Amino acid sequence: MKLEIAVLAGDGIGPEVTAQAIKSLEAIAHSFDHTFLFKEGLVGAIAIDKTGDALPQETLDLCAATDAVLFGAIGDPKYDNNPGSKVRPEQGLLKLRKELGLYANIRPVKAYPTLLEHSPLKRHIIEGTDIAIYRELTGGIYFGKKTLNDEGTVASDLCEYSKEEIERIAHLAFKEALKRKKKLTLVDKANVLETSRLWRKVVTELATAYPEVQLDFMFVDNAAMQLILNPKSFDVILTENMFGDILSDEASVIGGSIGLLASASIGDKFAMFEPIHGSYPQATGKGIANPIAAILSVAMLLRHFNLNEEAAVIEQGVEKALELHITTPDLNSHQPLSTQKVGDFIADYITNPFDTNVNF
Ligand code: IPM
Ligand code: MN
Repeated sequence: MKLEIAVLAGDGIGPEVTAQAIKSLEAIAHSFDHTFLFKEGLVGAIAIDKTGDALPQETLDLCAATDAVLFGAIGDPKYDNNPGSKVRPEQGLLKLRKELGLYANIRPVKAYPTLLEHSPLKRHIIEGTDIAIYRELTGGIYFGKKTLNDEGTVASDLCEYSKEEIERIAHLAFKEALKRKKKLTLVDKANVLETSRLWRKVVTELATAYPEVQLDFMFVDNAAMQLILNPKSFDVILTENMFGDILSDEASVIGGSIGLLASASIGDKFAMFEPIHGSYPQATGKGIANPIAAILSVAMLLRHFNLNEEAAVIEQGVEKALELHITTPDLNSHQPLSTQKVGDFIADYITNPFDTNVNF
């Protein structure tokens, strides 16, 4: 297969982890006889610095002209404490999601057997956890009208959802549930929010088309608690934009490091793959960032194109690295390895899955 991939490495540790993900893809291309072409584009703080725009038109055109987008990370502290700043790096990512119509953000969370001790949660609670979070990504409070009065003393963010916006992601979540344990939990705040009541109504109606799926509802405050108390009770979680943002960071604690969580953002025409972690500016250039979330994101990319065997080899490489403690400092305080070494190990595994001790 031939794929053109737009690479938007972005800010902070983005370029370092993305380089390792590309290394894995190159190893896959070599072993399975595929051709992957990588085309770089600017986004985020680096794009603001170079062009004044967090998402230059050129980058958007590049993404629209390629088969998939590989995204690194976004954000720079110099914008965080400057609320008056007109341009912000995050706008680049939000605009990209909106313009490409990436309405479904899929964030798998699982407890790796070899990392159970790394989570601050008890082993018996997290062991066996396997959750797929379906987060709506182009609607809700993130994209509603924003206001600030002239005095700068009153602000508002509108949260709006339409039936169509709910239906299209709900279909994907139901279909995913069918492939898994057939359980779907809609997380909302229907005791307070009108948008949440609409979500319940639309999803309940849709459920009749998926009789095999057990649908239940949970308020987001309770879901935040249940994720920590009983994560194994979840299979597929479906939720709106902001609840999904918050719950997925919380859920990353189960895996032992946010540096492990990959994601896919899917629309009807385009798809983008990105680690869920941020730009981790304190780590930039130090070679300590965990590349696994980026590497698992390219496994999701391959699966999106039905290259399932290829994706599985990457996942096995990751599991092998974790098993042998070939890991960065977030997971390894005794003998941590660098971002590059972890990436090298996984790429070597892909090239030669049976000889995993090469160079280590
Ligand atoms: C994420 C991030 C983004 C979000 C930020 C960087 C805008 O936190 O992808 O989870 O809030 O969606
Ligand atoms: Mn987030």
